Amino acid sequence: MRIYGKYFKKYKALFFIGVTFVFLEAMCDLLQPTIMARIIDQGVRNKNMSLVISLGLLMLLVTALGAAFAATRSILASKVSQSFGADLREDLFAKVMRFSEDSIDRLDSGSLITRLTNDTSQIVQFSNGMMRIFFKAPITFLGSILLAIALSAKLSLVMLTVLVLVTILITISMKLSYDRFAKVQVAVDKVNGVVQEYLMGIRLVKAFGKFQEEETKFEAANDDLKKKNISTQIVITYFAPLLSLSVSLGIAAVLYIGSLIFQQGDIEVGKVAAFISYMAQILISIIMITNVFNTFVRSKASTERINEILESGEDFPREGKGFSEESGTLVFEKVTFAYPHGSGLPAVRDLSFEIKPGETLAIIGPTGSGKSTIMWLCLRFYDVDEGRILVDGTDLKAIDTKKLRDHIAIASQKPELFSGTVLENISWGNSGMSLEDVREAAKVAMADGFIQEMSAGYESLLSQGGVNLSGGQKQRISIARALAKKSPLLILDDSTSALDAVTDYKVRKAIRVFRPGKATIIITQRIGTAMGADKILVMYNGEAAGFGRYEELLETCLTYRELYDSQIGIRMAGENNG
Ligand SMILES: Nc1ncnc2c1ncn2[C@@H]1O[C@H](COP(=O)(O)OP(=O)(O)OP(=O)(O)O)[C@@H](O)[C@H]1O
Ligand SMILES: [Mg+2]
Repeated sequence: MRIYGKYFKKYKALFFIGVTFVFLEAMCDLLQPTIMARIIDQGVRNKNMSLVISLGLLMLLVTALGAAFAATRSILASKVSQSFGADLREDLFAKVMRFSEDSIDRLDSGSLITRLTNDTSQIVQFSNGMMRIFFKAPITFLGSILLAIALSAKLSLVMLTVLVLVTILITISMKLSYDRFAKVQVAVDKVNGVVQEYLMGIRLVKAFGKFQEEETKFEAANDDLKKKNISTQIVITYFAPLLSLSVSLGIAAVLYIGSLIFQQGDIEVGKVAAFISYMAQILISIIMITNVFNTFVRSKASTERINEILESGEDFPREGKGFSEESGTLVFEKVTFAYPHGSGLPAVRDLSFEIKPGETLAIIGPTGSGKSTIMWLCLRFYDVDEGRILVDGTDLKAIDTKKLRDHIAIASQKPELFSGTVLENISWGNSGMSLEDVREAAKVAMADGFIQEMSAGYESLLSQGGVNLSGGQKQRISIARALAKKSPLLILDDSTSALDAVTDYKVRKAIRVFRPGKATIIITQRIGTAMGADKILVMYNGEAAGFGRYEELLETCLTYRELYDSQIGIRMAGENNG
C-alpha cells in the first residue's frame, strides 16, 4: 500500500471532496427509514394527511439529495482513480525503461505486460471502489445499527446475533480467497506469456507446422487459468448467498419477534417497518464491504506484483564524469566477466586489447565466443568482474552512463526496428537531425537505394519490428542509424551478416571514408569481413586467441588459421582443383 502514498498526495483534495459527498449520501440513506416510521406511526395511524404529505415531501427531498450526492461522488471517484491509474502506468513504464539487464533477465515481458495493464486496472478498481463505497458502507452499517438499537433494544438482540454470524462468514471467505486471487494473477501471466512467445516466433511455428504444440501449450495455460478462476468464484459464490441467507433469516426473525412485541403493545408498526429497512441497509452495506474486501484482496496481490517492478534494480548509477576530449580510444585491461544469471563460467576471460582513433578493429570468433558480450560491456550494461575498461583514458565506472552511451553507437546482431517511418528509425533519438544527414548515413549503409524505391521513400512506414523488410534491408537501416549518430566509437555486431560479400565490402569501405579519424569495431564470423580491418581480435571461448594484423595472425594464431582455411583457404584449394 506504500505505493499509493505519492499519488494520494497528488489527488488528496479531490479525494476528500469525494469522500465528503459519500458521507452526505450515507446520511441521506440513513434518514429515510426514520422519516418512514414517522409517516406510518404519526401520520397514517392518526389519519393526519397534512403530516403525511409534508413528511412525504421531506422524504422525496432527502432521496433527491442522496441521488445528487451519489452522482457527484461517482464522477469524482472515476476522475481520481483513472488519473491515478494513468500516473501509475506511466511510472511503471518509465521504471521498466530504466531496468538493469539483471531485472530484464528476471521479469519476462509477458508478466510485465500483465502488470502494467491487468494489475494496474485492479488497483484502479480498488481505489475507485474505495472512494465510492469503502467509506459509505461502514457509515451506513454503523449508523443503521445505532438507529435500529434506538428503535428497539429487544429486536436489536436478533440483529446482533446475525451480525456475529456474518462477521465469521466474512473472515473465513477472506482467508480462502486471498491465495486464490494471487494464483489467478500468475495464471493470467502464463497465458500472456504463451501468446507472446507464439507471436514472436509466428513464422517459425508456421514453417515447422508446430500449431498443435503451440495450441496444446496455450490450452494448458488457458485451462489452468479457468480452473483458478472457477476456484476463486466458488468461494465468492458460496459465501455471498450464505451472507444474504443469514441476513434474510434475521429479517424473518425480526418480523416474527416484532409481531409478538407488537401484540404486547410495546412497539409501533412503523418502527418495525423502519427496523427492517435498517436491517436491509445493513445487508447492503455488508455486501458492499465484502465486495470492497474482494477488490482489496485482488489489488493486494496486484500491489505486490507492481511493487516488485518498482523495487527492481535500475541501470547502473548514472552520475559521473564526461569526456574532456572525445577520440574513441578503447582499452580492455585483463577483463573477466560472467553473466549474473549465466552458466557461472566467464563469458569473457582475462581479455586485453586496444583500439585507437582512426582504427578499425575486427573481432572474429565462433558462435558463443564472447563477441557480443564485449559490446554490452562497453555500453556498461553489465559491470566487469575483474580488470577494467577505459574509454578515452577514463575507467568506465567513473563515466556518466548517459554520456558513455552517447559516445558509442551500436548496430546489434538482431536489427531492432520500431514502428514508425524509415526517417524516424534512422534519426532515432535525435529529433534535430536533418533529412540530409539521414540520407548521408543511409547512403553509406547502402540503404538509400532501396529506401527511395519504397512507396513513400523516407516517410514509408515500417510495421512493428520492420516485418515488411528483408533481413539485409533491416541490417542496413540499423547500420544507417548507428552511423547517423556520428559517435566517436562505432560497434557493428555482425551487422552485415545478411549482406552479400560485395555489398558488405562496399559498406565497410564507405564507413571508413565516412568516419575519418574515428574508431570502429566490426564484430563478425566471416574472415572476409575481418580481413580489411587494421587489427583483428580473435576470440575463442571467451579468451583472446590472437590479436594483430591478418598476415601475422595467419602465421601465429591457430584458431584464425582454422577459420581462414574453413572459409577461404579450402574454397581456394577447391577452385584450384576444379
Ligand atoms: N544474457 C545472458 N545471460 C547469460 N549468459 C549469456 C547471456 N548472453 C550471452 N550469454 C553467454 O555468454 C557467452 C558468450 O555469448 P556472446 O553473446 O558474447 O557470444 P557471441 O560471440 O556474440 O556469439 P554469436 O556469434 O553467436 O553472436 C555464451 O556462452 C552465452 O551463452
Ligand atoms: Mg553475438
